[in-house]
Amino acid sequence: AHKNTVNIVEVGPRDGLQNEKGSVIPADVKVELIERLIEAGATSVEAGSFVSPKWVPQMAGTADVLKSINPKHRTNIHLPVLVPNKKGLDDLFKLLDEHPGVTDEIAVFAAATESFSKANLNCSIAESLAKMSEVTRLATERGLRVRGYTSVVVWCPYEGRTNASKVREVTKELLDMGCYEVSLGETVGRGRPHEVLEMLEEVAKAVDPGKLAGHFHDTYGTGVANMLAALNFGLRTFDSSVGGLGGCPYSPGATGNVATEDLLYTLQDSPYHVAGASTTSKSGGIDLEKVSDIGWWISQKLGRESVSRVGRAIKAR
Ligand code: HMG
Ligand code: MG
Repeated sequence: AHKNTVNIVEVGPRDGLQNEKGSVIPADVKVELIERLIEAGATSVEAGSFVSPKWVPQMAGTADVLKSINPKHRTNIHLPVLVPNKKGLDDLFKLLDEHPGVTDEIAVFAAATESFSKANLNCSIAESLAKMSEVTRLATERGLRVRGYTSVVVWCPYEGRTNASKVREVTKELLDMGCYEVSLGETVGRGRPHEVLEMLEEVAKAVDPGKLAGHFHDTYGTGVANMLAALNFGLRTFDSSVGGLGGCPYSPGATGNVATEDLLYTLQDSPYHVAGASTTSKSGGIDLEKVSDIGWWISQKLGRESVSRVGRAIKAR
């Protein structure tokens, strides 16, 4: 890819919806959300998780979501799903036996602090990496590609500021086990650009920045600033959520990911080109106006307004 190409991984259907309280969002709404995002030009859309429904009830129907997406909408599209252990992978393999091709990618996830690892995965960092390594090996053997996440890369909800050398170690291990890329999760959403850069400098001692993605939650409103800092550092892939949906069930008070609309608007008319399948959009490969509409539509389904600043501005003009 060209060095000025920026990739966006749309995580709204997974990170955005996993934290919703109350009744489980129907599979047909999730399917419509994913299909509309693809129609707007998104080529990588995180579709759900094969995690324990007792831990994250909202992700319970992920198999139904994947098999309901129209194959016409799946061509050249990645629909990664989170898989934390062998049980989740067995469930996914069973789905793939019955419905081949519904996804070609999984994501495994580990944390940079012991407390977050325990809260999110009920095991230590070392135990989680052992499980993720087995999952990565088996998924790769089956022809799937595997993305990694390192969580709490700047702040931890339980331990305060994270030690950047731990982020480096965990991230390096995820790449060594076979992840094609590791997304650095600023889970809490209170990190600032100087802290993100400090962390990136440490991680880059062991890892090629081209293999890193930025995953910024926007609790304190620093998501766009953090994305730009990481972009200037050399990262070219960023995770974001339509309408700014979301939060992490194990990060109390953290709000959604930086909104996809906010990233698209920031990069529009800049030297950077957002990759994607849209041929009509003026904002690059993903159509900002369409994403803004989707943000309002899904937020209304959830009984609220879009929290994307750009989405709100577009609606008001
Ligand atoms: P555990 O309770 O230690 O699991 O949870 P266990 O192996 O002892 O099994 C207990 C029960 O869960 C058993 O059922 C298993 O079959 C079942 P029972 O016999 O009691 O009926 N089970 C499963 N069911 C379905 N799918 C599975 C599965 N595994 C076990 N895969 C476990 C351990 C990993 C399962 C649990 O901690 C878990 O599901 N954690 C996932 C939490 C999660 O999804 N968090 C949010 C995503 S991460 C995130 O948001 C951060 C990110 O956005 C980046 C960032 O912002 O930093 C990615
Ligand atoms: Mg997240």
